[in-house]
Amino acid sequence: MEHSMINLTLKIWRQKNAATPGKFETYPVKNISIEMSFLEMIDVLNEELISDGKDPIAFDHDCREGICGACSMYINGRPHGPWHANTTCQLHMRAYKDGDTIVIEPWRANAFPVIKDLVVDRTAFDRIIQAGGYISVNTGNAVDANAMPVERDNAESAFAAAACIGCGACVAACKNSSALLFVSAKVSHLALLPQGGPERKSRAMSMVAQMDKEGFGSCTNTGACEAVCPKEISIENIARLNREYMMAGAVSDK
Ligand code: SF4
Ligand code: FES
Repeated sequence: MEHSMINLTLKIWRQKNAATPGKFETYPVKNISIEMSFLEMIDVLNEELISDGKDPIAFDHDCREGICGACSMYINGRPHGPWHANTTCQLHMRAYKDGDTIVIEPWRANAFPVIKDLVVDRTAFDRIIQAGGYISVNTGNAVDANAMPVERDNAESAFAAAACIGCGACVAACKNSSALLFVSAKVSHLALLPQGGPERKSRAMSMVAQMDKEGFGSCTNTGACEAVCPKEISIENIARLNREYMMAGAVSDK
């Protein structure tokens, strides 16, 4: 049982706001249970900082269950930490051993400016969705699920793409800060289903245009995005996005 508690050194990026330069501060944390989640460990540090009259570490979180995508941060240089297909909130302290040093930073991408400490502004993703990540629906009674048959492979691929939680780890891992894995997941989800048909000819173009406008970089096919994605979104979706984009270019919308 003696190893169930560990002591750590945290090096955490502190930044007052987007206009002020930030820097790393070092914080020792003691008697951390390996049963704790990574965010609970930061909560412990924050309680200490607050009781010492200091400013707590600002970090984003909501569900703490791997579904909202808010808990963005690099942990020792890797988005969401060392575990495969995992979010920061689902990382547990048993991933670390006594005496470890952990470096924690906010996403680094021009399109995700730092708001404070580890919190970045990810509203660029919202604006990409607003540009085309929706479907036209007639409101009214829900349609019987069987009334619109969907081929099984398409249904499964659409479901896999829909698992994207918009966390931004793909952008954070990419040396070009490309958002193409995110955009391709959203475009694929709708392109594979009949409900996505009405906007299909314009969706890819509108979303890619917004992505460029937001300042995300180009995709050079390194695959770094797929390797860190907590929801294992496949880069096959990027190939589908490229096909959708070319099809939209070839076919007039009118
Ligand atoms: S594609 Fe993966 S890494 Fe990128 S925003 Fe979606 S869930 Fe996060
Ligand atoms: S806090 Fe919601 S995914 Fe981590």
